[in-house]
Amino acid sequence: MSYVTALIIHVLSVVVWIGGVAFVTLVTFPMILREEKSLEQVMMFQGVEHRFAKIAKLMVILAGLSGLYLLFEKGLSPGVWIMIVVWTFYAALLFGLEKLIFKKIFSKPADKLDTRKVFNILQGFHWVVLTLSALAIAAGIWTGHN
Ligand code: HEM
Repeated sequence: MSYVTALIIHVLSVVVWIGGVAFVTLVTFPMILREEKSLEQVMMFQGVEHRFAKIAKLMVILAGLSGLYLLFEKGLSPGVWIMIVVWTFYAALLFGLEKLIFKKIFSKPADKLDTRKVFNILQGFHWVVLTLSALAIAAGIWTGHN
């Protein structure tokens, strides 16, 4: 595999993955929070989450493998460390923690859950991970062109 092919796979997988996180943060959560009924809110969230989680997991694996290839070619640098930390945070969530967190949050039936509070917290959390992702993207471009 050539260096440029690895870079193309790396950037494309990041575009789909972080683009999805941006969509969920900027479009899906505001739509959920406009919805009145708790059950509708939970259904909308679970519908999006089930579909996007699969896509995100595949993109995280592709970004990680192509990133490792680039790492062996270019070596470690502060920018690469930032990317690795952000990647590891996402991988820990997507391949383990997230299931435990959602199981705990949605253990109560929707009508017993303060869904507005839950989705406000989840939206806030997505703003944090989106900001961290933007930092990793800047670190990657800096690494690649500095
Ligand atoms: C295992 C984790 C990762 C590793 C080992 C890794 C490694 C690298 C390396 C070595 C480069 C530099 C390529 C060059 O010098 O041209 C790079 C570029 C890049 N990486 Fe990562 N990366 C990882 C995760 C991420 C993540 C999580 C993001 C964003 C959320 C990201 C976004 C980028 C971007 C945007 C570039 C710049 C491409 C360019 O403009 O040339 N990477 N990555």
